[in-house]
Amino acid sequence: MAVVKLENVSKRYPGSQELAVDAINLDIADGEFLVLLGPSGCGKSTALRMIAGLESITRGTLYIDGQVMNNIPAKDRDIAMVFQSYALYPHMNVANNLAFGLRRRKVPKDKIVRRVENVAGMLGLIPFLGRKPHALSGGQRQRVALGRAIVRDPKVFLFDEPLSNLDAALRVSTRNELVNQHQRLGATMIYVTHDQVEAMTMGQRICIINNGKLVQVGVPLQVYREPADTFVAKFLGNPPMNLFEVRLEASADGVAARFGHHALPLSAMDATKLSAYMNRTVIFGIRPEDLSEIRPQDRHQHPNGITARVAAVEALGAETVLITEIEAVDEVVRARLDRDSTARLGDEICIEVDVNRVHLFDPESSRAIACR
Ligand SMILES: Nc1ncnc2c1ncn2[C@@H]1O[C@H](COP(=O)(O)OP(=O)(O)O)[C@@H](O)[C@H]1O
Ligand SMILES: [Mg+2]
Repeated sequence: MAVVKLENVSKRYPGSQELAVDAINLDIADGEFLVLLGPSGCGKSTALRMIAGLESITRGTLYIDGQVMNNIPAKDRDIAMVFQSYALYPHMNVANNLAFGLRRRKVPKDKIVRRVENVAGMLGLIPFLGRKPHALSGGQRQRVALGRAIVRDPKVFLFDEPLSNLDAALRVSTRNELVNQHQRLGATMIYVTHDQVEAMTMGQRICIINNGKLVQVGVPLQVYREPADTFVAKFLGNPPMNLFEVRLEASADGVAARFGHHALPLSAMDATKLSAYMNRTVIFGIRPEDLSEIRPQDRHQHPNGITARVAAVEALGAETVLITEIEAVDEVVRARLDRDSTARLGDEICIEVDVNRVHLFDPESSRAIACR
């Protein structure tokens, strides 16, 4: 059992004016895999280190299973942490690296041998037990670091960007392995990353942090589909959501988004909920996959088609991303099209917006406007 609860947890480093972590409230369920996601410097490691007991908590309360942990030393928290820099002991072989923590805890010898063998078997490390870290690949070292955490059978696992040093293929396989290990162990795991793909694929829930503050927490697809603000909208998804300013106007069937000579009817939106924004500028958001290309001969069937000039073509094989310029839109607009697109640099094409997938954000607060 390990429920982790952060209540208004803040961190101010000595000598710093700003809060590195700013009043975070978060409940992590027993056995959950939670990802802390955010850009470099947003306070992820600081938050994790406060949970581990490696960093003091300036304000707020940390609970594990209902017990206040603020002043409990790291070694008594029953938490294991895996870092990006594997932090293995270079002079010890794999078996001794795995056994080290147990020996220090005075676990009986036969029990150590059994646990080390068990975990080495689980992670495919049996053939390497006699090797020292320098004779292992990055992926193998990462598995030893993970094994060293698993062998301790802690209440909570903390991971701080553990896959960042691995090459792309190994990152994917280690990612899957970690998810499998989580299922097998059923332990509470908190995983820090700046990589939105890792967050989307690994997390049961994602907690997005910006400037030390928690912006949004939810299951991956919910956060992807309903970003709470423009930061989340841009941070999740590659290419990111297109965001640009439009003016909201009354139209025959409700509300329209005006930019240049286009007036895009937002029929999926509840006009009454938008009354405070009428005749004002708002931020319009549309994901690249919610744009499609209309063939010239079909144009007359799509009165809301938008003319766009192709500024770059990224043919990725499975799909083609067009970077386009649209009249009266001051940002480039990316459209994710199927691989058969024949659009070329400089072409004028016609783009259709899936108006059921439009997001609107308040221009001052950048928070999503509830409009459905
Ligand atoms: N030991 C420290 N002393 C002072 N400031 C620190 C220390 N560690 C981190 N910071 C600052 O706290 C902020 C958050 O850092 P960190 O938690 O490492 O971010 P992340 O892990 O998201 O990249 C950054 O502005 C960083 O410079
Ligand atoms: Mg960090």
